[in-house]
Amino acid sequence: MKVGLLGHGVVGSGVRTIIDEGATWEVRELEVTAILVKDETEMTDPRTTLNADDIINDPEIQVVAECMGGLEPAHTYAKRALQAGKHVVTSNKKMLATFCGDLFDTARENGVTIHYEASCGGGIPWMASLDRTRRVDDIVSFRGIFNGTTNYILERMFHENRDFADMLKEAQKLGYAEQDPTDDIDGYDVRYKVALSCAKAFDAIVDAEKILTYGIRNITAQDLQFCRDSGYACKLMGKGEWHTDYISAMVIPVFLHADDVFANIPLNFNAIESNSKTLGSAAFVGQGAGSLPTAHAVVQNVIDIWKDQDSEINPKTRVPIDNQFHQGIYYIRTVKDALLASITDQRVGDHAILTKKISVLEAENAIRTLADQDLFIAEVAE
Ligand code: HSE
Repeated sequence: MKVGLLGHGVVGSGVRTIIDEGATWEVRELEVTAILVKDETEMTDPRTTLNADDIINDPEIQVVAECMGGLEPAHTYAKRALQAGKHVVTSNKKMLATFCGDLFDTARENGVTIHYEASCGGGIPWMASLDRTRRVDDIVSFRGIFNGTTNYILERMFHENRDFADMLKEAQKLGYAEQDPTDDIDGYDVRYKVALSCAKAFDAIVDAEKILTYGIRNITAQDLQFCRDSGYACKLMGKGEWHTDYISAMVIPVFLHADDVFANIPLNFNAIESNSKTLGSAAFVGQGAGSLPTAHAVVQNVIDIWKDQDSEINPKTRVPIDNQFHQGIYYIRTVKDALLASITDQRVGDHAILTKKISVLEAENAIRTLADQDLFIAEVAE
């Protein structure tokens, strides 16, 4: 089966390598016949082109693998490929989470599907497992460490007292970080992955912008010291919960008990857990970022299409996000801590508090009024 590649960066070059090397009989059934690159400096392979039409209009290409990243032109090319009757596989969570309503509809109208295993959890077969689970059971919730860059930064800061900025640079060098690493450290990358996990786990299209999102940009040694001294580990977590009429979903640093299975997930690894009635908890750990692990997930989707083991049914129902009933205890560090008296349960050293058990929206409303650019918030496991 002939595959057209859109993008030849970290993920795209990994897809080309895996397919060209053809380590298994299934992979040897695939062939990358055209590769869209950004400019002439990337035209290092006879299959490269600067014109997306060479892929979208090629009747021999059945699958387009979109690994460009960013919103445009990735969205337009993916849409045109679907309209041309080609299946689309994408690793681009930002693009798909932003345009999933439009792209899922376009796929359905054209009798093709859009696959996105690689968009979430890197090489971990998370989406495939959600599909399998849902053949038997309704998924009620999921939670996970969805971002390799921030897990790498937090791990090394926590265990080695390393500096935030240096660790971010290392994560970029290792190819984990997004083109714009603010998407990683401010939690937006996880927000997109949570939105796409809602699509798969709950068969629901959600508005990614409504997912409450906090990142780790402002975390300091003081925060990590409290975390360590209290027997916790700090992880940036994404979560989703099904409530029939609405979905509760957020991205937030969490101080996890040291014996939580997610407390010791190392470096760029991701770990994600689903909960469903008959299966209970099922957790997956693996490489969440990087060229070959992510490319592995793209190639898996291409093989699913080739084998016609395409269980993909893209969702069409829109479900609202609502976090008003999500309650927790929150660690909040801000120089304006005196203004948080009404939600404070106890003080933690200088300028940090632990809240009473409150709704996450109550915490959000309280901190929004402070307008403190350096504030850090984490949920504290009970
Ligand atoms: N920047 C992402 C991460 C890449 O660090 O997890 C994989 O989605």
